[in-house]
Amino acid sequence: MRIFSGIQPTNQLHIGNYLGAIKQWVQLQKDNECIYCIVDLHALTIPYDPKTLQQKIKETSIAIMAAGIDPEKSIIFVQSQVKEHAELGWLFNTITPIGELERMTQYKDKSKKFKENINAGLLDYPVLQTADVLLYKGEAVPVGKDQEQHIELMRTLARKFNQKFGQTFKEPASMILKEGAKIMSLVDPKKKMSKSDEAKSCIFLFDSPEDITKKIMSATTDSGKEVKYNLTKKPGISNLLMIYSLLSGKTTQDLEKEFVGKNYGEFKKSLAQVVVQYLEPFRRKQKELMTREVYVQEILKQGQHKAQVIAQETMREVREKMGLI
Ligand code: AMP
Ligand code: TRP
Repeated sequence: MRIFSGIQPTNQLHIGNYLGAIKQWVQLQKDNECIYCIVDLHALTIPYDPKTLQQKIKETSIAIMAAGIDPEKSIIFVQSQVKEHAELGWLFNTITPIGELERMTQYKDKSKKFKENINAGLLDYPVLQTADVLLYKGEAVPVGKDQEQHIELMRTLARKFNQKFGQTFKEPASMILKEGAKIMSLVDPKKKMSKSDEAKSCIFLFDSPEDITKKIMSATTDSGKEVKYNLTKKPGISNLLMIYSLLSGKTTQDLEKEFVGKNYGEFKKSLAQVVVQYLEPFRRKQKELMTREVYVQEILKQGQHKAQVIAQETMREVREKMGLI
């Protein structure tokens, strides 16, 4: 299968990004043709600093490699380096009803969060995302739960394009995990863990062992004393149990048994050890890659070339079907 997914070069990656998306990316690269994109054009829709954008692109590329994306197996590239994304995005604009975009949850959330900067790109964001995937005729898109609505739009637009201009695109399927698709904030377990929130609400992939331990020990928990998985009554402990389960391979039921009679503090201490240990090789790999700038640039360049070949072929077909050549 051809797999496509993207990540914004905004802040550091956190374990929500990892458990919801990147972990799937890593597994999929074994038996599929995988294309992973650093979506810098999407990142321009919220306030950012042009001076640090290149640094963030580099850091995000290194982060996904440190977390297990293998450039020998997968294509890794930067969205703005393949011009066809913007071109296909424009063409898809002409078949997208505005109403579909105005009802998108992410658009509504970001318009509230960035009241001073409700730009057309923010509204148009899912159309560019559709272009990202369809440009490569991606068949499946591994993402976290928050992207479900955007993938639904991709399917709608693929159908619409095919009806208007003839069979061209398959409708891409979303790959959203049953567990881990929505990791919650350590500070407010009713909200998803988000890169743009305060640092102590996220465990970043390259946090020091001390920071990881501090953040977990001070994570918001619930009233009561028992370590039990119950999303409505105990959202804080349930989120921590889910993280524990996904990183240790034990089920939440097994963990409940293991921690019978133990208090939240003991449970958190044990979780901190599991997280620190799991992320240790990530930290090591990241440090190593940070010193290999030329190598990382070379990977992105090769990725660009490979992506371009596919993108240009699709664009030739699309231009022809739309009467542009
Ligand atoms: P972003 O941080 O918005 O660039 O997201 C990159 C990927 O991580 C997307 O597939 C998101 O759906 C996923 N993701 C982001 N936050 C979370 C979270 N808290 N839990 C699970 N997946 C997430
Ligand atoms: N919108 C996605 C996010 O915020 C990132 C993204 C851009 C993406 N283009 C994509 C994800 C294409 C999957 C496929 O996480």
